[in-house]
Parts: sequence; structure tokens; C-alpha cells
Amino acid sequence: MSSFAVVDLGTKKIVAAIARPAKDGGLEILAVQRENSRGMGRGVIKNLREVKHILKSVIEIAERDSDSVVEDVYINLSGVNADIFTALGKTVVTGETITRKEILRAIETAKRITIPQHREIIHVIPTRYIVDDQEVEEPEGMFGTVLQVQVQIITHLLTVVKNFENCVERAGFYLKEFVLNQVADIYSLVNDEDRELGVMIVDIGAETTDVALVLQNEIHKIFSYEIGGKDFTNDIAIGLNTSMKEAERIKVKYARLFSDTEEEVIKVPLMDGGERNITSNELYSIIFPRAEQLFTWIQEDIERAGWELKATSGIMLTGGGSLLSGLKKFASSFFNTMVRISGPRNTSRLLNLDDEFTSPEYSTFVGILKYAQEREQFDGKSSSGFLPSIKNALKNIFGKKSGG
Ligand SMILES: Nc1ncnc2c1ncn2[C@@H]1O[C@H](COP(=O)(O)OP(=O)(O)OP(=O)(O)O)[C@@H](O)[C@H]1O
Ligand SMILES: [Mg+2]
Repeated sequence: MSSFAVVDLGTKKIVAAIARPAKDGGLEILAVQRENSRGMGRGVIKNLREVKHILKSVIEIAERDSDSVVEDVYINLSGVNADIFTALGKTVVTGETITRKEILRAIETAKRITIPQHREIIHVIPTRYIVDDQEVEEPEGMFGTVLQVQVQIITHLLTVVKNFENCVERAGFYLKEFVLNQVADIYSLVNDEDRELGVMIVDIGAETTDVALVLQNEIHKIFSYEIGGKDFTNDIAIGLNTSMKEAERIKVKYARLFSDTEEEVIKVPLMDGGERNITSNELYSIIFPRAEQLFTWIQEDIERAGWELKATSGIMLTGGGSLLSGLKKFASSFFNTMVRISGPRNTSRLLNLDDEFTSPEYSTFVGILKYAQEREQFDGKSSSGFLPSIKNALKNIFGKKSGG
């Protein structure tokens, strides 16, 4: 079967893999290439030429490493400006039992909903099937006269979508599908239990934070914020009058989101060539407001959405920004709930993927791989393709039979 590329294009890093479907339904990873990203800002393209260049370069290196040539590319989209809503579709069953074609037709009718001209649909996710007023998990092959389907539609800004599409094409590839960061994170992180109880995923990247509220087989809400790990670095650079490079080093090595009775003294090289000493508690007071700002925004949004954190399995922090020391404890006391730092899990069906990709900074990347795995498997059965429900998807991914 033919190979394809999977790309997580972030603001800080770009990671690309060349993969091909394996015989057992998994994916064989043939090569992975990571570089510092260029030309991106707050989740969107700021410099088309630079993004095109880096995209072309990482995929071509991975192609050389894997001794293969690809056309199709799966690539992520930041959640900033994405929107999600529910729609209904319906079709009359012509034969005795429901066929795959009829399921696809019902989904197509759900897509007929009018959306604003400046937006484009990037995901259509079936969440419920109803056959003659009875809810079923998997309608294919069932008796019935009318099939109804409830879908979640995710749209994005047309200009953003077109720019990414254009960029992939100019780099010499074909855009197979976009995967929203939140959707990728769900594929990467959520297991059956979390899905059942409900969970909030918070992916803190370099310049954006993507949040997904997942409950049962639905994405309850998505939120995104133009704030990320780089803002902490920026605060340190300004607060200490040091370079961004030094500020990043200090952040990763010394910054923590709690005050300590045993203060550590940190040497800081200044912009004017001088040097000064600061304590770890001073550093804490510089980064604390940023963490508080981000969590306050999230808190306001989940309250508006009526999300009861207490009734769920809590919060999964992920993305490179989640590695900030003390963030888990800080989040746990801020939201008064259980918090985990989560990285990709259950990667066994991604053959030859190195262990390092279970780090939280690779959640989106691995999620796109899992999405592509499922998609390619589905496309093997039908050419008109749609995403099987998140629920079935997760069941497949986590090793349980769907529809059973
Ligand atoms: N050990 C660490 N401690 C604190 N911060 C860290 C650590 N490791 C990485 N980071 C931060 O994580 C951020 C990068 O995260 P990530 O790789 O998820 O970003 P990205 O996907 O490229 O960006 P985005 O999703 O916003 O487009 C950087 O701001 C970096 O400083
Ligand atoms: Mg990211």
C-alpha cells in the first residue's frame, strides 16, 4: 500500500513522518524528521515562503530516510478560530437493511447545513445513529426504514484553510486531510474511561493553547487561546532584561510554579553584557501571572459551557508547555481537581515509533498518525470516506471491537 506523510506543524517545532498501512491495520512508521519551525505565529502562517520551505524540507528528508516518495499529506490546524456545532442528517433506507452507502448519504445531508461564507468544514464526526427512532451504535446491516445521524461539524476560517492548502501544494504535495489539534489530541490521549467520565485536555504549545472537553462519544466544546510556553519565556526575558535564548534556558532549567523555602540563586546574563543574581522565588513571581491568566480564561469558558470538572476524570495537560515544572500542582489547586501531565499512549499499532514520542510535546503529532491510521483503514473499504464516530475510532484505537 502507498505511503503518505503526517505533519505536526507547530509554532516551535515541525515534525513529519512517512508512514504506510501495515497488514494488521496499524501503521508502519518509515521515518520521522523534526526541525525548528519557521514562519508560523499563534497557530497560523505568517510567512508563506518560510513555511513552504520548512515543510518541503522536513518531508523530503523523511522521504530520503525512508527511501520513498509521498504525495498525500495529513496536517494539523490550530484550534484558534475553529468552531464546533451539531447537525442532523437523514435518509430513507431503500433496501431491507442499511448499507454503508446510505450511512454516507445520511451524513452528506447533515453537511447541507448553511455555514457562513468565510468558513469551511474540516471535520464531520458522526456521534449518534438513530434507526426508526431507536438509537444504535453501528447501523450498517440493520433493518430499518429511516436512518438519522447526528454529526459534529468542525469549521475553520476559509482564509486559514486556503493558506495551509496552498502551502502544502506549493511544497509539492497533495493535502489529504486537515486534523484539528484538539481532534489529534483526543486520538492521542483519551481512553475509554476518560471518554465515559469526561475529561478536559489542555494542550499548551509555544504560542497557542488548545482545549477540548470530551464527554462520552462527543466533543462537548473546544476552546483555543493565543497564549503558550513562549509567553512565559517572553515574560522572563522582559522581567530579567535578558535575551529570549537565555530566558528559554532559565525557564526550562529553573522556573517552577511554586515558591520554595529553600531558594536557589540563579545567575542571569543581562542584555547589556552584565550579570545579576536572582532567586527562584523571584522567577516564580515573574511566571505566575501568565499561568494564572491562562487558567482564568479557561475557567471562564468552562463555566460558561456548564462543565463540571468535579464530575469528570479531571484535566490532562499536554504539549511542550505542560512540562513547566510545578504546572500540574498549580493547575490542580487552581481548578481544584485531578490533573495529569499526559503524553501519547497506546502507540503499539504505530510500528517502529520510538519511545521518545510518548512525551507530551508529541501528542498532536501522534494523534495525527492515529487519525491517519484509522482513515486509511476506512478508505480501504470505501472511496467516499468519512470519519467513523469518535467513539468507534477510540474503540478501534484502544483495541476493542467497534459496534459490539
Ligand atoms: N521542560 C520544559 N519546561 C518548560 N517549558 C518547556 C519545556 N519543554 C518545552 N517547553 C516549552 O514548550 C513550548 C513548545 O511546545 P510545543 O512543542 O508543544 O509547541 P508547538 O506545537 O510547536 O506550538 P503550537 O502548538 O503553539 O503551534 C515552548 O514554549 C517551550 O519553551
Ligand atoms: Mg502544538
